[in-house]
Amino acid sequence: MTGKAMRHLLAIESSCDETSASVFGEDGTILSNIVLSQDEVHAPYGGVVPELASRQHLKSITPVVRESLTAAGLPLEAMDFFAVTQGPGLIGSLLVGLSFAKGLAYYHRKPVLGIDHVQAHIESAFLDRSDLPFPVLALIVSGGHTALFLMPRKLRARLLGRTRDDAAGEALDKVAKFLELGYPGGPLIQKLAENGDPGRFPFALPRMSDRSLDFSFSGLKTAAVRIIRESGISREAAALPDFLASFENAVARTLVRNVERAVESFVPRSLVLCGGVARNRRLRAAFERFASGRGLPFGIPSPKLCTDNAAMVGALAWAKIRASRKKIPLRLDLDAYPRSPR
Ligand code: KG4
Ligand code: ZN
Repeated sequence: MTGKAMRHLLAIESSCDETSASVFGEDGTILSNIVLSQDEVHAPYGGVVPELASRQHLKSITPVVRESLTAAGLPLEAMDFFAVTQGPGLIGSLLVGLSFAKGLAYYHRKPVLGIDHVQAHIESAFLDRSDLPFPVLALIVSGGHTALFLMPRKLRARLLGRTRDDAAGEALDKVAKFLELGYPGGPLIQKLAENGDPGRFPFALPRMSDRSLDFSFSGLKTAAVRIIRESGISREAAALPDFLASFENAVARTLVRNVERAVESFVPRSLVLCGGVARNRRLRAAFERFASGRGLPFGIPSPKLCTDNAAMVGALAWAKIRASRKKIPLRLDLDAYPRSPR
């Protein structure tokens, strides 16, 4: 072989209820991205049970890491870096991935990078769209987070607004739970709402009393429960698709409306939509319509890269390694953090 051998990175994600490992080539190629979802474990409870999640991660982490290496066709010894989600997330779940990655780094004498889960979601949008011009306005929407960031340049993000109560995905999951549709609620709602009329049930969109770019979804959730009770919506009701399409549409409009307000205030040159809820077709379409209407280039990760996965962790780790002028130090003093430090 001529020239310098390509360096490799193993990334691990375990912040919530997906155990994931991904092997990454230095040139940005995802060599493998194995995601083991715990949906079946948590489904009977209608939401993630933290204690069950960490136990499940403990069971899955070794086979998932092994499978990611097998799929990439590389041994553990070929890894030059390790990367792991440090936070935010469930503390017990985070600790499983973090301890595992630190153990690997210690044994193999290779650096381990602690990665922020929210920033990793955003970075996943650049995997296919490395050309997006800065400043970038990024909307992250998931089960645990709903926030807007302004990125003046690569690897820099300033928080513009975040949810004051429920995350958008959490609101979808809770309404699905109330209707006994199953868990996670977002994809089930999407499926059932597919042919529904989004205009049938009017939802008043939440308004912040101040001029902040924060979000609030608990009002929409309460309004949904009120309509369910007043209109007799149930799992079997003929009006279910129309109701779910209307609710889904209200969530999408609320999100896009804040993006619109942020665009007017901060004049970004491109837009990003990411996080688990970014899989939603209605939201993707509304976001695309808005971006195209403004003539703004945009990036939305492919559906598989929207929900929690280790490739997004690897993507951010590589971006950091590339940007670092110094050698990444061999240190193992990374601590998990349950909440965003911002
Ligand atoms: O990013 P993610 O995997 O985990 C967190 O960081 O929270 O997002 C999970 C969330 C769940 O609330 C789930 O219901 C939602 O993403 N979700 C969807 C869809 N697929 C997943 N929401 C709406 N439509 C979908 N197709
Ligand atoms: Zn996530």
